Amino acid sequence: MNFRSKNLLVTGGAGFIGSNFIKYFLDKYNDTKVVNIDCLTYAGNLDNTKDFSNNPNYFFIKGDICDEKHMSQVFREYKIDGVINFAAETHVDNSINNPNPFIKSNIIGVFNLINIAFKFWMTKPFKYKDEYKNSRFHQISTDEVYGSIKSGTFSEKSCYKPNSPYAASKASADLMVRSFNKTYGLNTTISICSNNYGPNQNQEKLIPKVIKNFKENIPIPIYGNGLNVRDWIHVIDHCEAIDIIFNNSDEGHIYNIGAKNELSNLELINRINSILNNFYSKTVKIDFVEDRFGHDFRYSIDTSKLEKLFKWKSKKNFDSEIRKIIKMYCDD
Ligand SMILES: NC(=O)c1ccc[n+]([C@@H]2O[C@H](COP(=O)([O-])OP(=O)(O)OC[C@H]3O[C@@H](n4cnc5c(N)ncnc54)[C@H](O)[C@@H]3O)[C@@H](O)[C@H]2O)c1
Repeated sequence: MNFRSKNLLVTGGAGFIGSNFIKYFLDKYNDTKVVNIDCLTYAGNLDNTKDFSNNPNYFFIKGDICDEKHMSQVFREYKIDGVINFAAETHVDNSINNPNPFIKSNIIGVFNLINIAFKFWMTKPFKYKDEYKNSRFHQISTDEVYGSIKSGTFSEKSCYKPNSPYAASKASADLMVRSFNKTYGLNTTISICSNNYGPNQNQEKLIPKVIKNFKENIPIPIYGNGLNVRDWIHVIDHCEAIDIIFNNSDEGHIYNIGAKNELSNLELINRINSILNNFYSKTVKIDFVEDRFGHDFRYSIDTSKLEKLFKWKSKKNFDSEIRKIIKMYCDD
């Protein structure tokens, strides 16, 4: 099967979702080169790339998406004809403590990349160079851009009402991507995904942190009353949806990606605890702590657009995948 691009730039490929995407991609396609640009913040880890770092179609470059000169050089040198932008600062708590890096990477970095793509692929607005006429810029976004919803779900037509500096920076990036499609005719797509789980996730995030604290016999701190709800999707289901959208969507479209697997934080920990109890006959204790400032109560997205257009559905079973992750973290 052929992929739409021959020389794909994947940014943030040493992080959680980017590294899973590159592995998924190189296992599936052998006629596309993948250039992974990552500046290796605390969240980037080259260990995450060890499964594919020797693949002849894979190239790693340490670089910052905000660096215009370096990124332009990469586009020229590798004849980049597709971009999937995962690179971002991603931890909400960090964005509350210090929003600056979020503004830089998540807004200025995205503007820089998309502006380079426009200059490299097009001669003027709405006029692609012949050799780049299939080129596409795909932005990875988050359900946090819609804000919180007590009941019901957000569709792709819902307003953006981000509540944290992280969510606001991601919403800003989506709007910039939209503007390049409307104003310059740049071929763009955006996917908006719910909470991911799976291998390679940084230990600051909830599921790895629960397992880490279990291993170290430390209670897991839970914000407020633990009733905040998130939809949990396996990272490979997310990667498959990105692949389908990048290859098949018309330009200018936005798609929600989710698993209809909504759990409160307490329910999530109880599910993990019942598995831990089965395997190790003990569980992790919960320590309720003061709520996060501006903590969104519930995220919920309607994924019917993606399901109807491309017959996509999330496939992974939450409990059996969580079992594998627990085994992986606890038995290493
Ligand atoms: N994790 C989730 O549940 C989730 C859900 C929906 C959307 N997203 C989005 O998916 C993307 C990837 O998230 P993740 O969880 O894998 O994040 P992550 O924090 O694990 O990885 C981010 C990667 O980006 C790199 N990076 C950061 N700033 C950079 C810069 N300026 N230049 C180059 N590289 C840079 C980091 O070094 C890291 O390797 C993000 O855009 C995030 O907003 C994540």
